Amino acid sequence: MSSSSETPPNVVSPTPSVLPVKAIPGSYGLPIIGPFLDRLNYFWFQGLDTFFRKRVEKYKSTVFRTNIPPTFPFFTRVNPHVIAVLDCKSFSYLFDLDVVEKKNILIGDYMPSLSFTGNIRVSIYLDPSEPQHSQVKNFTLDILKRSSSVWIPEFISNVDVMWTTVEKDLSKNKSSSLHVPLQRCIFRFFTKILAGADTENSSEIADKGFGYMNAWIAIQIIPTQKVGILQPFEEIFLHSCAYPSILVSPGYKKLYNFLKKEGREVIQRGETDFGLTEEETIHNLLFIIGVNAFAGFSAFLPELITRLGSTDETGLQNKLRKEVREKIGSTQQLSFESVREMELVHSFVYETLRYGPPVQCQYARARKDFLLTSYDASYEIKKGELLCGYQVLAMRDPKVFDDPESFKADRFTGEKGRELLKYLYWSNGPQTGSTSASNKQCAGKDVVVPTACLFVADLLMRYDSFRCSSSLNIIAVEKAK
Ligand code: HEM
Repeated sequence: MSSSSETPPNVVSPTPSVLPVKAIPGSYGLPIIGPFLDRLNYFWFQGLDTFFRKRVEKYKSTVFRTNIPPTFPFFTRVNPHVIAVLDCKSFSYLFDLDVVEKKNILIGDYMPSLSFTGNIRVSIYLDPSEPQHSQVKNFTLDILKRSSSVWIPEFISNVDVMWTTVEKDLSKNKSSSLHVPLQRCIFRFFTKILAGADTENSSEIADKGFGYMNAWIAIQIIPTQKVGILQPFEEIFLHSCAYPSILVSPGYKKLYNFLKKEGREVIQRGETDFGLTEEETIHNLLFIIGVNAFAGFSAFLPELITRLGSTDETGLQNKLRKEVREKIGSTQQLSFESVREMELVHSFVYETLRYGPPVQCQYARARKDFLLTSYDASYEIKKGELLCGYQVLAMRDPKVFDDPESFKADRFTGEKGRELLKYLYWSNGPQTGSTSASNKQCAGKDVVVPTACLFVADLLMRYDSFRCSSSLNIIAVEKAK
């Protein structure tokens, strides 16, 4: 976007074309008290979803000022003030790097200590204006390109191990928890595909690697996350201070040493072809494998699986199975080409990303003063102010999505459905956009949807019926005859 007052591409045009400039509704309240009360509402009395919805109702606006945690007492250097942007149009300003920057704001103004990543600012915290960002992003895109030929066999073999474990368990018990086998599967797959390192080469990493990763991620983001344990214990013990990296550094060090040994080839490419040091390469790789890929899929695949395996009156599972088996035909071979033809499977995956975006909040800081235009008004944003997009609400924008609160598996089918992809923002950019070194769209954008479709297709080829509870307990499977 060239001019700050223009309508961003990919968003619904405003009507009328000249909109009034209004003061942004909402306030930050009294110092300390305002942010503290908002924190209690965010985590405890209301929860994230109600917190944003109630304020939309109160201010009759999808753009407003509010505080978000972490705050008082031990986050004195964190500024909790944000401007929430909760419709498709205002949310899309988060992608406009002419007017916003993405330096150090992955989870808001709060940034975990650099000691978690060897005192290196990994690429997710870099703005594209920083040269290091393109070095690491190009490196990531290169890894993904090179791994394309082994992507499917690696993925299917890991998924195979996972389902075999579940089937064995189900032959002895009434139900089987998919949680650990799924995490193990995702972790092994991404470590192999992104770093060329097979976790099976170290019994400790094979066994505990994903646990070390979970702990390392959790401790960094915990001050910003609702966990759901008994209150006020959650507020007192999890949201009042940042925990030091030393608590998880033994596990992280093991992952680091494992990658250094087993991922030699990929690390060398980072050094020779992309000008990174060994340390920069390994810390960035660990972050991409862990936070981006492993945590992203650990949030997303359970959504897909439980939706697929829940009792559903529309016969969704059978409709999807019919499409998968028709498109695969007699070859019985899954490929990205065969999966590409599965329109309903794609739409189901897109709708799952719309309905429950795996990364719920995105942030961006105003690079300069600019005018942010929503549907009914424009708002003056001052340089340095932080925009906070709660994607769950933006993806339920009634001006874009019909019946937005309903899950409609076929929403993205046909021409009208494909048009809607402009407004699907799970990847920090529209689904129709392209990720590159000059933007902050997810580097894995073009592999996430095909891989999820592959997962669904494989499952429906494998089983004639499949049932699963909301807590990822597999209740019954009937193998394909
Ligand atoms: C379901 C899975 C995934 C989801 C939901 C997801 C989502 C996202 C989001 C929302 C961002 C932007 C964060 C921000 O700056 O505000 C992002 C960035 C990123 N993602 Fe993904 N992601 C997924 C999988 C992956 C995978 C498999 C990779 C593997 C390479 C990956 C690599 C990255 C990288 C490197 C960035 C930073 C981009 C940059 O700095 O320009 N992601 N992802």
